[in-house]
Amino acid sequence: MSSETLLLASTPAGIGHAARLLRDGRLVAFATETVYGLGADATNGEAVAAIYAAKGRPSFNPLIVHVPDAAAARRHVQWSDAAEALAGAFWPGPMTLVLPLAHGHGISSLVTAGLQTLAVRVPAAPVARALLSEAGVPVAAPSANPSGRISPTTAAHVLAGLNGRIAAVLDDGPCPVGVESTILDPGPPARMLREGGVTAEDVARVLGSAPLPPETSTITAPGQLASHYAPRAHLRLNAAAPQPGETYLGFGPGPADLSLSESGDLAEAAATLFARLHDLDAMGVTRAAVAPVPDQGLGRAINDRLRRAAAPR
Ligand code: TXA
Ligand code: MG
Repeated sequence: MSSETLLLASTPAGIGHAARLLRDGRLVAFATETVYGLGADATNGEAVAAIYAAKGRPSFNPLIVHVPDAAAARRHVQWSDAAEALAGAFWPGPMTLVLPLAHGHGISSLVTAGLQTLAVRVPAAPVARALLSEAGVPVAAPSANPSGRISPTTAAHVLAGLNGRIAAVLDDGPCPVGVESTILDPGPPARMLREGGVTAEDVARVLGSAPLPPETSTITAPGQLASHYAPRAHLRLNAAAPQPGETYLGFGPGPADLSLSESGDLAEAAATLFARLHDLDAMGVTRAAVAPVPDQGLGRAINDRLRRAAAPR
């Protein structure tokens, strides 16, 4: 339990080792194109319980199951025309679909926290897909950070939070998208449960209309609690300039201590967001001001994460 966490290279040997650990019921962090996930065999209740223990995550917060392709997903969930259209457009990629569990789904009830639906996704990162194919089991994986902390976009971030608490990290470099997957209930009507790497505009192009916001009466994505993605620093958002004593996290041209994207590029800002928040922690910053980020496309996922990072706790 408190033994060293192995750092595995994303070579065929490293991937094979990680796949064996997963099949043996051990915890392995691996890169997806969005963030690093903390994986366990989703059919093995003890392995899934170990995820909650390692993260300190409340067990009423369900997990996303990762599979290598849509055919694998269909073994666990009830498919629909909308699911087919969305999977066709966005898989592999940063899109999670929430669908009713299939009869004989085989997934541990700890994964779904007792819900009758399953969140499932096919990541695009080639190393992740190779790992999932080789493991041959559906892999439950929340972001590989202690609960309530910033999501990891490098293997070093994972080790900073979970070293000694998990069997291995499969290092595949920095995650290119940098914010978590979009979570969508395909409906009808389709509902956007979490903004993420696929934008609402992209979804609207496929479905013919914009997805609705989540129903407020139900617990849709319980991870969407106010204080999430929290750096130690207090954050002031939409700040045109820093006040004395504040570290300035910029977006676009102009003076800044750190920048999400000097050219004002939203994809670059998404890819660097969590690393810059980790940097604030590493620098010991207590107060930071963040430049405004346009609230469109990927900017909505970025602003969602920034609001949670700034929420009182
Ligand atoms: O990009 C991502 O999605 C990353 C990578 C590792 O795949 N994973 C990730 O997992 O962000 P996590 O656990 O940090 O966030 C999963 C979210 C939580 O907000 C959870 O409540 C929601 O998915 N969720 C899981 N199952 C659900 C379900 N059946 N219905 C609604 N929301 C669900
Ligand atoms: Mg998370």
